[in-house]
Amino acid sequence: MTAPKSVLVIGGSSDIGHATALRYAQAGWQVALAARDTTAAQRNADDIKARSGVDVPVHALDVLATDKLADFVAALPALPDTVISMIGELGDQKRAETDLAHATMIMRTNFEAPSLLLGLFANAFQARGAGTIVGVSSVAGDRGRGSNYVYGAAKAGFSQFLSGLRNRMALAGGVRVVTVKPGFVRTRMTAHLKLPAPLTVDPGRVAADIFRSAEENGREVIYVGRRFWLVMTIICAIPETVFKRLKL
Ligand SMILES: NC(=O)c1ccc[n+]([C@@H]2O[C@H](COP(=O)([O-])OP(=O)(O)OC[C@H]3O[C@@H](n4cnc5c(N)ncnc54)[C@H](OP(=O)(O)O)[C@@H]3O)[C@@H](O)[C@H]2O)c1
Repeated sequence: MTAPKSVLVIGGSSDIGHATALRYAQAGWQVALAARDTTAAQRNADDIKARSGVDVPVHALDVLATDKLADFVAALPALPDTVISMIGELGDQKRAETDLAHATMIMRTNFEAPSLLLGLFANAFQARGAGTIVGVSSVAGDRGRGSNYVYGAAKAGFSQFLSGLRNRMALAGGVRVVTVKPGFVRTRMTAHLKLPAPLTVDPGRVAADIFRSAEENGREVIYVGRRFWLVMTIICAIPETVFKRLKL
């Protein structure tokens, strides 16, 4: 009998991370979570155990402590088959316009830290000759909007990092890199926002799409929901002279 495959979900306290870890557990995978808030991640681990029977270890990790990321990867009991970054921080755009520390936190959390961490996993997977890397970015990175461009710019940087990493890994062989771009998802991140119902999905939908693309159909850049792909295609096609008057 072959051993079950393994996944490490980084940002294991997140709502989408919870749903994604459950999806993998229900497919018979070994699942581990890494999280800054280990109490919240343990609650998710307990729920996954109750619903799937899979034991889910929780590792402590603050991704902003970038000088410790290499030690974190080296100290894992085993290198997972798949690693997924759920790391994100929406922040407060208005505050970020004048509070440089807040803007820095948003940029580092959405771009610098997950990029450095997934880059380390890529090197380890390349040395092993196999592995799948999934980065959860956002449609917000596809075009800068006045209402959330600090978060959006950081997600754009992360999407480009994943694109380049995918390119590099394709030449090396054996390692896949998947970029996931959700639109609106009902989670604690967006709980304070009024989201358009027809375009908004639950975390379970994101989880199902991640599992399908990472483990089944081999797609490498996915929008969660074809509607959102269409919306972003239209938004990206609007000329800048018109776009800046839309106050999005
Ligand atoms: N919800 C949406 O509409 C939407 C849309 C597009 C993309 N996304 C992306 O989807 C991903 C998951 O988001 P979500 O909606 O599930 O929101 P969430 O529950 O707020 O998840 C964000 C995760 O990032 C973690 N995190 C932030 N800073 C960290 C740090 N320094 N070290 C370790 N972990 C850190 C959080 O951990 P703590 O619990 O410790 O804060 C949390 O687990 C994010 O990348 C988000 O940008 C969400």
